[in-house]
Amino acid sequence: MDGKLDTNRVFTAEGAPNIALIKYWGKRDEKLILPQNSSISLTLSRDTLHTTTSVLVSSKLDEDRFYLDGEIQDLKDKDVAERFGIVGIMRKMAGIREKVLIVSRNDFPTASGMASSASGIATLVYVLNEAFGLGLSTRKLSIVARQGSGSACRSLFGGLVEWKRGAEPDGSDSYAEQVFDEKHWPELMDNIAIVSQEKKKVPSRAGMKQTVQSNPLYASRPAAAEKRLSELTEVYGKKDFESLAELIMADSNEMHALMLSTRPSIRYLNRSSYKVMDLIEGLNLSEGKNIAAYTFDAGPNAHIITLSKHNAKVMEALEQLKASGDVFDVRQSKIGQGPSMLGKDFSLIDDAALGPKAGN
Ligand code: DP6
Repeated sequence: MDGKLDTNRVFTAEGAPNIALIKYWGKRDEKLILPQNSSISLTLSRDTLHTTTSVLVSSKLDEDRFYLDGEIQDLKDKDVAERFGIVGIMRKMAGIREKVLIVSRNDFPTASGMASSASGIATLVYVLNEAFGLGLSTRKLSIVARQGSGSACRSLFGGLVEWKRGAEPDGSDSYAEQVFDEKHWPELMDNIAIVSQEKKKVPSRAGMKQTVQSNPLYASRPAAAEKRLSELTEVYGKKDFESLAELIMADSNEMHALMLSTRPSIRYLNRSSYKVMDLIEGLNLSEGKNIAAYTFDAGPNAHIITLSKHNAKVMEALEQLKASGDVFDVRQSKIGQGPSMLGKDFSLIDDAALGPKAGN
């Protein structure tokens, strides 16, 4: 056994989801999860949304066990197994055979386009690095996380984060990197307008494959995304919100247009999502400049990027949609940091029973 391996200690970490501003929607390698284009996202604040994950490595376990939001997961299920493969990858890197007990909890609606898998996988990779005594760099961890779920690699850093497309067939240059930390633009924030808590109908993995294979409009996407990404990085550096908002809305609309024109058509937005778009466009028009931008990942919930000085106006406008029943909750988030370790008081594992603590 590896000298650094501590089999009696529970390791716990916390991480956050990210919202893509320039979207990843299409792979060039399905197995290694290599994207067709680079993407860029903001990591959200753990105060608003977070995943907590505890890990115990133990020779007493005869198989891996994984509890998510209080429910034991079937590791033979294809979707779970695809994402859980990262545990095997990291165990191999550590040269150990011990099994792991993982207990993970999200404080936001799972699988509703709120990037719970990104947050979950980034946090898991981060905590396993400690539990297995691997000591990998955050860049290396992002390469592992990418193989669980592409967008997860961006949640290993805080602030504005780019996932580089890379060119190598083995994926060694397709990793995440921080572009600006969370202190660069502290006024920037994300209001998440929740319009649905339903699970998404088409998983993003199957959806993006369908788009790449069947949509003739996709051919122009990778180059357009790369161009917009470099423009976005530049205006973000200058804190030019007016231009940033244009780029954010353009990229979200381009991705959802590609989904819509895929055969069979993929539609994640619902009537309430469109009402949020109308509302923000109306607000920007009446202000005579962009004070907010909407963006949607693979789900109907809106992320409204704004500056703290405009937030009261945005929240006031959203009241209309709350009154009509289109928006039933708004979570306000600042831009946050990457994952970090928590003390033993935060453990979600009941050591004696080797299962989740009651209430998890
Ligand atoms: C719309 O990262 O969930 O949120 O790599 O197949 O696990 P897999 O896909 P995933 O796709 C996220 C797509 C998106 C855009 C984005 O986050 O860039």
